[in-house]
Amino acid sequence: MKQASRTATLTLDGKSIELPVLSGSTGPDVIDIRKLYSQLGVFTFDPGYTSTASCESRITYIDGEKGELLYRGYPIDQLAEKSHYLEVCNLLLYGKLPTPAQLEDFTNRVTRHTMLHEQIQYFFRGFRRDAHPMAIVCGVVGAMSAFYHDSTDINDPWQREVASIRMIAKIPTICAWAYKYSVGQPFVYPRNDLDYASNFLHMCFAVPAEPYFVDPIIARAMDRIFILHADHEQNASTSTVRLAGSSQANPFACIAAGVASLWGPAHGGANQACLEMLREIGTVDRIPEYIARAKDKNDPFRLMGFGHRVYKNFDPRAKVMKQSADEVLGLLGIENNETLKVAKELERIALEDEYFIEKKLYPNVDFYSGIILEAIGFPTSMFTPIFALARTVGWIAQWKEMIEDPDGKIGRPRQLYTGATRRDYVDIEAR
Ligand code: SDX
Repeated sequence: MKQASRTATLTLDGKSIELPVLSGSTGPDVIDIRKLYSQLGVFTFDPGYTSTASCESRITYIDGEKGELLYRGYPIDQLAEKSHYLEVCNLLLYGKLPTPAQLEDFTNRVTRHTMLHEQIQYFFRGFRRDAHPMAIVCGVVGAMSAFYHDSTDINDPWQREVASIRMIAKIPTICAWAYKYSVGQPFVYPRNDLDYASNFLHMCFAVPAEPYFVDPIIARAMDRIFILHADHEQNASTSTVRLAGSSQANPFACIAAGVASLWGPAHGGANQACLEMLREIGTVDRIPEYIARAKDKNDPFRLMGFGHRVYKNFDPRAKVMKQSADEVLGLLGIENNETLKVAKELERIALEDEYFIEKKLYPNVDFYSGIILEAIGFPTSMFTPIFALARTVGWIAQWKEMIEDPDGKIGRPRQLYTGATRRDYVDIEAR
């Protein structure tokens, strides 16, 4: 972090203090308020963190006005086109594009950690078959701290590295097995001869009764979806992982906390909610009714897959996802997919509507992803687990960055208290 040459003056009740203004490598400067309470006896108030930087990070940067997303400085559209998910994992974890030898070593390490402890199968079997796969993923990820004791010491750099590789390697197996369990099919073990995305698809859709051929077009689309979801600054689930990690909880418990936060329909659960909304709309002629509901202050309905806290222009991931939807559905021969038609018409109408223009609401990453995932063969209940699978590397990279921050401390926000002031207990006989 670079100390800016200027300060911000804050005057309250006749007392003025100078607060340092800090600059990063790009993006808004920040006012360092760490000494505010000790100097002025007041807190800042920002419940949704709309104007608050919770940390310093070097991993991902979003320019919401330009609609730009950079992973370690590389634009998401270039990575989606030229890279692949494990290379992006390496980039997010270590900060630079790997050499061929580094990538081969990283790929081998991940490939050889994809199996789960055999006992974990019994953990799956404790769930009802109709449990939401996110409930299973959240439970099993948390349970990993009961199986991999040799990588839970957060103060040991080697154990942090092993836990990171284990999380990235095993989350596809956990998600695939959650799906298999929900459809009553036997678990399919990972295969070391398949690439990361193909292995996930094979574990999801292969059955012991016959060989399963992974379509390379589908595998490429799956890998691209993983890249687009890998990291995204201090979103709700990543902030959850950081806060959990600040107490020095083990990495598996922290990632389970991230899974739980991502599940919400306002966050990673929006991809499932969006496809269910598109299905409910059903046909293009019913779009105006839903646009009206989204604009109605008295109606809690929102257009799922629309809007974003940071992007006040298009979400660059949605652009790539839209192109990918056209490509994948075209290659699968389902161009006249009614859901895709409704999505495109809904986007067109919304982007011409004054309400959405004034509030700068654009399609986000969740708007088109479900259409591709459904075309690949996943039920809507698997959409958010796939988001969690892809985001695991971002959570782990951000968790490692926080743990390795020499200035790190436990996160402990304060509050504006508006409850009852001190009063004495009243015996029940006197009430
Ligand atoms: C993800 O943070 C991240 O980076 C998240 C994510 C990531 O990769 O980690 O990008 C992934 O979570 C994407 C977002 C997925 N969620 C949805 O698609 C759900 C629908 N979207 C909204 O719930 C909303 O847009 C949020 C939650 C995404 C953003 O909410 P904000 O920033 O808190 O904005 P807001 O709720 O204050 O809305 C501002 C205004 C409001 O109107 P006013 O009160 O000012 O009159 O815009 C309106 C809202 O009513 N609005 C919408 C809307 N989104 C916002 N109106 C209709 N439909 C919508 N989708």
